[in-house]
Amino acid sequence: MVRIGILISGRGSNMIALAEAVRDERIPNATVAVVISDQPDAAGLERARNLGLQTLVIQRRGRSRHEHDREVIAALKERDVQLIRLAGYMRLLSPQFIQTFPNAILNIHPSLLPCFPGLDAQHQAIDHGVKWSGCTVHFVDETLDGGPIIAQRIVPVLDGDTEDSLAARILVEEHRLYAEAVALVVSGKYEVVGRRVINTSE
Ligand code: GAR
Repeated sequence: MVRIGILISGRGSNMIALAEAVRDERIPNATVAVVISDQPDAAGLERARNLGLQTLVIQRRGRSRHEHDREVIAALKERDVQLIRLAGYMRLLSPQFIQTFPNAILNIHPSLLPCFPGLDAQHQAIDHGVKWSGCTVHFVDETLDGGPIIAQRIVPVLDGDTEDSLAARILVEEHRLYAEAVALVVSGKYEVVGRRVINTSE
């Protein structure tokens, strides 16, 4: 059984989609060990509790990133977490965090990386005038949204789109894609060759 820890900062819809995929065994052999938020008022916390998940709040409280991460790492280790999913966690991880869990931290980003990394990806896509955008699940390394790509899905950008309408269209695909990508990683049927993540189950 792979023990998953999920880090959130806000609404937590990707966290809920993952927890439901685990519950429904669309992600077999996995369990959600803990949901951790750096924000005490994150809406996702209440939603996680309603699903019967254990939740923790670990605030930054003026500490360095390193100090804050040290507490998060300890909480994950105490619960034997093997796989970490960032789900709208709006903090950069310290190098120490990434080195503690090599190739075991996944993130979802609402663009087709390497386009539009960082904040406000949907806004960046509209501003740039792209006709297609989407979402990307990738391993987290020490670069900003730059780790090896596990899976991507595309959506059209329509002429009348606002940032919100595009974000909503992408979010539907995020929920599906993240569960599929986590199922692949939990199954272990992949290889990382350079920057390429090869699916070996096919
Ligand atoms: C999602 O769209 C996710 O891709 C994005 O924040 C949103 C969180 O929503 N993440 C990033 O932009 C990370 N750079 P959620 O809290 O409902 O899952």
